Amino acid sequence: MQKVISTAVIRRLPRYYRYLGELRQKEVVRISSKELSERMNVTASQIRQDLNNFGGFGQQGYGYNVEYLYTEIGKILGLDQEHKVVIIGAGNLGQAIANYSDFARRGFAIKAIFDIKPELIGKEVGGVKIRSVSELKNYVLTEKPDIAALTVTKEQAAKMANDVVSWGIKAIWNFTPTELRLPKDVVVENVHLTESLMRLSYNIRAAQEKRENEMVQQIAAEAERESAAAEE
Ligand code: NAI
Repeated sequence: MQKVISTAVIRRLPRYYRYLGELRQKEVVRISSKELSERMNVTASQIRQDLNNFGGFGQQGYGYNVEYLYTEIGKILGLDQEHKVVIIGAGNLGQAIANYSDFARRGFAIKAIFDIKPELIGKEVGGVKIRSVSELKNYVLTEKPDIAALTVTKEQAAKMANDVVSWGIKAIWNFTPTELRLPKDVVVENVHLTESLMRLSYNIRAAQEKRENEMVQQIAAEAERESAAAEE
């Protein structure tokens, strides 16, 4: 049976994969967990722990073989197979995704994009023509895409997700703010840029508070030094 891996580890894997990909491009052959940790700002023990989940790809005194680790993590992430993606909703976001060529390089091939607006039908984005949503059912049934990227308006999200799932799609990349309720065997990855911004905002505030506290402590320490000097 496959070992259950914590979601925290899974969340870190794409980052390892990305860094290893960069090293690979620079033709780096091997790397120690210490070097990897310095580059990635993660402790070396965290890296060892994470990678031990998969049987540990490192060797004492040698470190990690970049190519091997990159390939193995890619396999764990399922990147060794191509994923066929359809985009539903060819507005700002849908078109931006279709135009981003790096997804294809990673094995996510944008095969088709659909919209309801007649003025968009036939327009080409990222090398694919926008099709009418009336063709979607037939397309999904015959082409059997793996992933539907959902970039429709909020109001249409639940209906479109239910539709494509009923036609056989098992994975949704959901950009809409709608919480989808789908059968358990359907995997959903929600993407929320606003939540990311909120985390950024939290960190800005936390950093500000830290600076303010340090300043208060500095002033207090100076005052203490001055009063001690006056007493002498
Ligand atoms: P948009 O209004 O530019 O695009 C939505 C498109 O969906 C329109 O072209 C519309 O005609 C189409 N559409 C509506 N119903 C449809 C249907 N049943 N079938 C096919 N196409 C349909 O909106 P935008 O800015 O591209 O945003 C798209 C979605 O992504 C929205 O739900 C928005 O809230 C969300 N969003 C999410 C972000 C995130 O961080 N996750 C960031 C920005 C937007």
